[in-house]
Amino acid sequence: MSDLEVTRFFGLRLAEFDKDVDDQDLWTPQERVTIVEKITEGLRVRQHVLLCGEPGLGKSCILRAVRRALPDAKFPMTYLHNTTLGRRDFYRQVCVGLGLTPKATAAALFHEVSTWVTQRSRDNIHPVFIVDEAQMLRDEVLGHLHVLANYEWDQKPLLSLVLSGLPDLRIRLERPNNRSLNSRIFCRIELGETGSAETREYILHRLERAGGKLSIFTDDAILAIHELAGGSLRDIDRLAAAAMACAAARRLKPIDAALVKAVHELDRPRMS
Ligand SMILES: Nc1ncnc2c1ncn2[C@@H]1O[C@H](COP(=O)(O)OP(=O)(O)OP(=O)(O)O)[C@@H](O)[C@H]1O
Ligand SMILES: [Mg+2]
Repeated sequence: MSDLEVTRFFGLRLAEFDKDVDDQDLWTPQERVTIVEKITEGLRVRQHVLLCGEPGLGKSCILRAVRRALPDAKFPMTYLHNTTLGRRDFYRQVCVGLGLTPKATAAALFHEVSTWVTQRSRDNIHPVFIVDEAQMLRDEVLGHLHVLANYEWDQKPLLSLVLSGLPDLRIRLERPNNRSLNSRIFCRIELGETGSAETREYILHRLERAGGKLSIFTDDAILAIHELAGGSLRDIDRLAAAAMACAAARRLKPIDAALVKAVHELDRPRMS
C-alpha cells in the first residue's frame, strides 16, 4: 500500500511517521526544551557537553534544535558523524568541515584546525564541534580529543566539544585513559525514555502536523505502541507507520491494540 493511499484513507495531508521531521516541526515538550536550554547555556559559557541516551530517543534531533537556537555567526557548528575514522582522517574530516585545505599528516591537520580555532577566538567567535555517534570513536581519537578541548589560555576553552552517543560513551569516558577529557566536561545530560503520557503527546504532535487526529488510534493502541516501542521515538514512528499502513489495507478505523501487536510481531526483526 502506497503512502498516498494510507494518507488518503486517514484523511491526512502528508505521510506522517514515515519521514524525518524538519527542524521547525520538532516535538518540543518542556523536558526537551529544558535540555536544549541547558546545552545552549553550556555552550554560551564555553563548556563542553556530553549527551547520552539509548538509540532512537532523539539525541540527534536535540542537537538540531541546539543548532537552531544559537546564532551561527557567533557559534559556528561543525557536525562530525563519521566517527570510525583513525586520528588523521578524523582531523581531515574536521578540516573539510571547516572549509580548510586538508594536509597530509595528522600533526599538520591538527595544526590547521587549532590555528583556525585560535583565529576565531580573536573575533570572539566560539566554534562548536559536534561529534555525534561518539561511542564509536576509536581510542586513538577519543584519547586525543582533550588536546583539542584544552585551549585554556583564556581560562576557558576556545572551542566547545559536544559529544553525543549511546550510554557506552559515558562508560568509555570514565576509563582512566580518558579522564583528561572527562574531567573537562561540565554539562552532562542523560536522555531518558519517553513515558506513556509523552508517547501520547508525541504521536499527537506527529499526527497534527499531518492534519490528523489522535482518534486514528484507540487509547489502548497508543499504550501498546508505547510499551512495544520501549520509549524510543524511532520505534514509535516505525510501529505507528506500519500500523497505519496495515489498517489502511484492511480498511480498519480506528487502529486498535490488537492490530498494533500483530504488526509488531511481523515487524519484530526490524525493531531494535
Ligand atoms: N524532537 C523530535 N521531534 C520529532 N521527531 C523526533 C524528535 N526526536 C526524535 N524524533 C524521531 O525519532 C527519530 C530518531 O531520533 P534521533 O535520530 O534524534 O535519535 P538518536 O537518539 O540520535 O538515535 P541514535 O542513537 O540511533 O543515533 C527521528 O528520525 C525522528 O523521526
Ligand atoms: Mg543519533
